Amino acid sequence: MNYTIQQYIHSKLQQRKDENNFRALSIAKGLIDFYSNDYLSFARDEELRKRIEEEIKVHPEVSIGSTGSRLLSGNNEYFESLEKFLAEFHQSESALIFNSGFDANYGLLSTLPYRDDTIVYDETVHASLHDGIRNSKANSVSFSHNNLDELEEKLKTASGLKFVVVESVYSMDGDLAPLKEIVDVCEKYGAGLIVDEAHATGIFGKRGEGRIVELGLQSRCIARVHTFSKALGAYGAVVLLSQELKEFLVNYCRPFIFSTALPFHSLAAIKCSYDFLKGAESRREKLSSLANNFTQQLRGTRNFQPITSNFSIQSLMVPGNQNAKQIAAKIQEQGLDVRPILSPTVPKGKERIRICLHSFNTEEEVTKLAQIINSL
Ligand SMILES: Cc1ncc(COP(=O)(O)O)c(C=O)c1O
Repeated sequence: MNYTIQQYIHSKLQQRKDENNFRALSIAKGLIDFYSNDYLSFARDEELRKRIEEEIKVHPEVSIGSTGSRLLSGNNEYFESLEKFLAEFHQSESALIFNSGFDANYGLLSTLPYRDDTIVYDETVHASLHDGIRNSKANSVSFSHNNLDELEEKLKTASGLKFVVVESVYSMDGDLAPLKEIVDVCEKYGAGLIVDEAHATGIFGKRGEGRIVELGLQSRCIARVHTFSKALGAYGAVVLLSQELKEFLVNYCRPFIFSTALPFHSLAAIKCSYDFLKGAESRREKLSSLANNFTQQLRGTRNFQPITSNFSIQSLMVPGNQNAKQIAAKIQEQGLDVRPILSPTVPKGKERIRICLHSFNTEEEVTKLAQIINSL
């Protein structure tokens, strides 16, 4: 080896610059938000903020910092009753809170499937699931996005205990997994289904319980992951599971065992956000109406293929990192904030502008965005 640590760091950064995918932190410029995950406007809601402050005030018995991991000093009654509430809300036997959706996915996948087992996963699942799978001792094989025949083919030859991993709503294209059919295939081959509901939380289901409850499939998956960081405007995540699987993770899951528990103010925010869902029906309706109007108006676009949905996540395919960056910059120049999703976050050739609609966006803003896109 004839280079120094500094030279290595420098060359890796240069590689990103050469590939047009250098990442840098930036601060929002106050443009109209078409990129955050605050689908239901909870993160910016003054009333919700007041309720969280009040919740913290009325529980002086809980210290603000959790002071340790759940297994040591970090547990308390508030944690336990919140998990009980979450299990009931999402119709699960039990629930285990994690510090983030990334931790939950990573922890679950790297812990549960073991040597000689097989994980079969949709090729487009989130990085946290990929990393958990990569760090598991099990064998793993992907199937093409939403391709049931291929899923079945892979399960036929899988060995050991079998696990299938999908998202209920895919984060990049906003498209839905055919969950009923996936559950049937899993049962045919005795595979346990794990579903990441990050982008369905708060949006799908009568009260925002997610797609699995909406479809009545809750008893047919072994674990579901909900993040509080998207539509709920908070932070942290929950895995919905059986009591025994909860005990298994409490005993073996390293990201759960060896990390300080969420602080009380995060738990209070989660509790208040769930309570706030009771009044969110009109926000969901507004979101859906905005999405339908946006989809209709995008029919005029000639140069880019749109991938639309009838809720928040929309995409505009703009292949090539440089192209995607240029198109995003052109939209930003007109006062609307959208962000390019570059390779390697998505495969080469699948670069896109990811557009998020929110209940706080107005019809005029959405029309302006569609008009700009149509004119590009
Ligand atoms: C599908 C999916 N799963 C998991 C996560 C991670 O969740 P969190 O942001 O709470 O760590 C994300 C967030 O980007 C996601 O999009």
